[in-house]
Amino acid sequence: MEKDINILAIESSCDETSAAVVKNGREVLSNIIASQIDIHTKFGGVVPEVASRKHIEVVSNVVQEALDEANVTLENIDAVAVTYGPGLVGALLVGVQYAKALAYAIDKPLIPVNHIEGHISANFIEHKDLQPPFVCLVVSGGHTFIVHMKDYGQFEVIGQTRDDAAGEAYDKIARAIGLGYPGGPKIDKLSKEGNPEAIKFPRANFHDDSLDFSFSGVKSAVLNYLNKMEMTKQEVNKADVAASFQKAVVDVLVDNVMKTCKRKGVDKVAIAGGVASNSALRAHMIEEGEKEGIRVLFPSPILCTDNAAMIGSAAYFEFLRGRTAPLNLNAIPNLKLGER
Ligand code: KG4
Ligand code: ZN
Repeated sequence: MEKDINILAIESSCDETSAAVVKNGREVLSNIIASQIDIHTKFGGVVPEVASRKHIEVVSNVVQEALDEANVTLENIDAVAVTYGPGLVGALLVGVQYAKALAYAIDKPLIPVNHIEGHISANFIEHKDLQPPFVCLVVSGGHTFIVHMKDYGQFEVIGQTRDDAAGEAYDKIARAIGLGYPGGPKIDKLSKEGNPEAIKFPRANFHDDSLDFSFSGVKSAVLNYLNKMEMTKQEVNKADVAASFQKAVVDVLVDNVMKTCKRKGVDKVAIAGGVASNSALRAHMIEEGEKEGIRVLFPSPILCTDNAAMIGSAAYFEFLRGRTAPLNLNAIPNLKLGER
């Protein structure tokens, strides 16, 4: 039997400080997440400088907690993995510096992980039998991608947003209708009381055969609608606005994913990122998948939002390919998917 590989992973790309111990890429021994949401809520969004300072304060404790909960010591760790991009540079640097120092101290390999590849890998933890190739929709606060994952570590970007990320659009609309930050879960909840057909918001349609997204059109349409209602002193039904906005977003996400599966002849779709928790997205994707004979997979909500377990999973498949980094690894805030 081959030796088990335990990876200690660190994630600090945005407003969560997280550390995890992951065995053989799919078994989570611990996944500690220190969220800064309460602090950033006061400002209506993530303040980069505050995020970096908070990461510095808690990173040591979070790592120690991850080791304790996994019931291992640093002697049982085979490699240290860290998110080195994309993300907020100051936030990323905290994790990267910490991971480099730790890898050096315990004399183990350092594995650099792309945050988006981490989100995709959350599906390997949730679905133990999942193997590439498959199509993945990554929808988070910072990213919207359709990716064809041909093999471990091999990604072809099929479509991406030309302006706002899906989660960003959710957060902006939530703010406009007074729901607060982070808006995605709040819009999701309120939509259940609204009529998704009440207001017709536009869906971006590119005239080539592009599978890219654009959410700035629907965002402006919602803002214009709210303005018009205010000027004409009409009452806004917030639940209808939320449900109609959500439908416009989910429709294009599902449409483009189904088109990608047809183009690539793939019958498996994995969804990833914070917005993958969205109940309408899940329901609609499953419904369309059933019609087309496509298996639709999601990670459980705790693995959808930023966490280090997903980084530990992605790192394992990199480790098997010998992809480690020297100790002069730097954070790359605009790191592209598939870039090494
Ligand atoms: O992946 P994530 O934790 O952080 C980034 O890497 O961006 O995603 C956070 C985003 C936020 O924009 C949040 O509003 C959105 O995911 N989100 C949701 C839901 N839960 C979180 N959006 C829609 N519906 C949800 N249930
Ligand atoms: Zn993320």
